[in-house]
Amino acid sequence: MPEPDQEGARFAAQQPQATPGFFLKGCHQLDWGMKNRMARVFNPESGRTVMLAIDHGYFQGPTTGLERIDLSIVPLLPQCDALFCTRGILRSVIPAASQKPMVLRASGGPSILKELSDEQIAMDMEDAVRLNAAGVGIQVFIGGEFETRSIHNMTRLVDAGLRVGMPVMGVTAVGKDMVRDAKYFRLACRIIAELGAQYVKTYFVEDGFETITASCPVPIVMAGGKKLPELEALTMAYNAVQQGASGVDMGRNIFQSDAPKAMIAAVNEVIHRNLKPAQALELFNDLKSKG
Ligand code: 5RP
Repeated sequence: MPEPDQEGARFAAQQPQATPGFFLKGCHQLDWGMKNRMARVFNPESGRTVMLAIDHGYFQGPTTGLERIDLSIVPLLPQCDALFCTRGILRSVIPAASQKPMVLRASGGPSILKELSDEQIAMDMEDAVRLNAAGVGIQVFIGGEFETRSIHNMTRLVDAGLRVGMPVMGVTAVGKDMVRDAKYFRLACRIIAELGAQYVKTYFVEDGFETITASCPVPIVMAGGKKLPELEALTMAYNAVQQGASGVDMGRNIFQSDAPKAMIAAVNEVIHRNLKPAQALELFNDLKSKG
C-alpha cells in the first residue's frame, strides 16, 4: 500500500540541510566538473541563481515575447545568471561570444496540439558538451499519462550527464488535471532528486512551499509560470527564496513584462540581495520610467 507523506514538524523546514565543503545543498559529493558547472549557474556568493527561461518554443512555437529572441532576449543576457534555452535557439540566435552559462532543454516531442507528457530525450549529451553547456533540463510528468517514460528519460539523461560532468535539472511538469499543492510538489521534487537530478525546477505554492524545499535534498529553482502583475511575481520570487529555494528559472514574468530589463533587474535584487517585494517594485518602476 503506497504511503503518502504526512504534514508536520518532521520536515524541519527551519533547519537548513548542511552543505559541507560546497555552497549548494546536496552537491558537496559531486565531481569537480559537475560542481564547476553548478557554480557557473548558481552564484557562489549568494548561493542563488536568476535563470532566464526562454525554452517555450520547443512545444508551443513563437510564444508571446519570444517571437524575435535576437531583439527581446539577447539584450537581457547581461542581467541573468544563466539562460535556459533550446539548442536550436542557442546555435541560431545566441551570440557564441556570450560568457553566460547555457542550460539546454533536452526533452521534447509533442506540441501543444498533443499529449504533452509523451516526451522523449531530444538531445545527445555529446551535443550538450559540444555546445559547452552548463547543464541540461528535462521535464518529468509525475502523475501524467507517460509518467514512467518521462522518469526513464530523466534517469537516462542523468546517467549520460554523470559520464561527462553535466548537471541535469529535472522540471516538475504539471498536467491540466493535476492539483498544484505542496503535497504534489513534494512528491514530484523528491522523486526527481532521488532518481539523480542535480537540481529541480518547480512551481511556488502559497501553503507549505518550505516543506517542498526541506524534503528535496538538492537545490530547487522556482518556475515562474503564467504572467502575473509585477508585484505578485516579485513577491512569489521573494517568498520562494525565503522558504528555501536556491533561485528562480523565470520566463514569461520577465520577457512578457512591459519592461523586461527593469523586471530582471528587480528579480536580481530580490534573489541575490533579499530586497523586499515592495522595494523591488519601486526599483522596477524607477528603471521602467527611465526606459
Ligand atoms: C515548462 C518549462 C517552460 O518551458 C519554461 O521554462 C517555463 O517558464 P515560465 O513558466 O517562467 O514562463 O519549463 O515547465
